[in-house]
Amino acid sequence: MSSISLNGSTPAPLAVGQDLLGAMLDAGLPAMYLCMAGSCGRCRTRVLSGGDALGVPTSAEAFHRCTPPERLACQATLARDADIHLQQPV
Ligand code: FES
Repeated sequence: MSSISLNGSTPAPLAVGQDLLGAMLDAGLPAMYLCMAGSCGRCRTRVLSGGDALGVPTSAEAFHRCTPPERLACQATLARDADIHLQQPV
């Protein structure tokens, strides 16, 4: 079982294949976002731990010049079980 937390919140469930923004919204975490589609860049987040368990960055993340440890939460998905700790704003 994997988990996700934002700014030190209580860990919430996160499933392999799930995007980080969707998991945060499902858990009621106050994530920043607008488009949910990789366009606005508003969901930029710093991955404090667990980043090596995320899928490869998307072209949208390259467009927004996300460099480790930053990811777009609506684009980054969990590739294998891990506990992910995020920080917003970056
Ligand atoms: S919510 Fe717009 S890029 Fe993620």
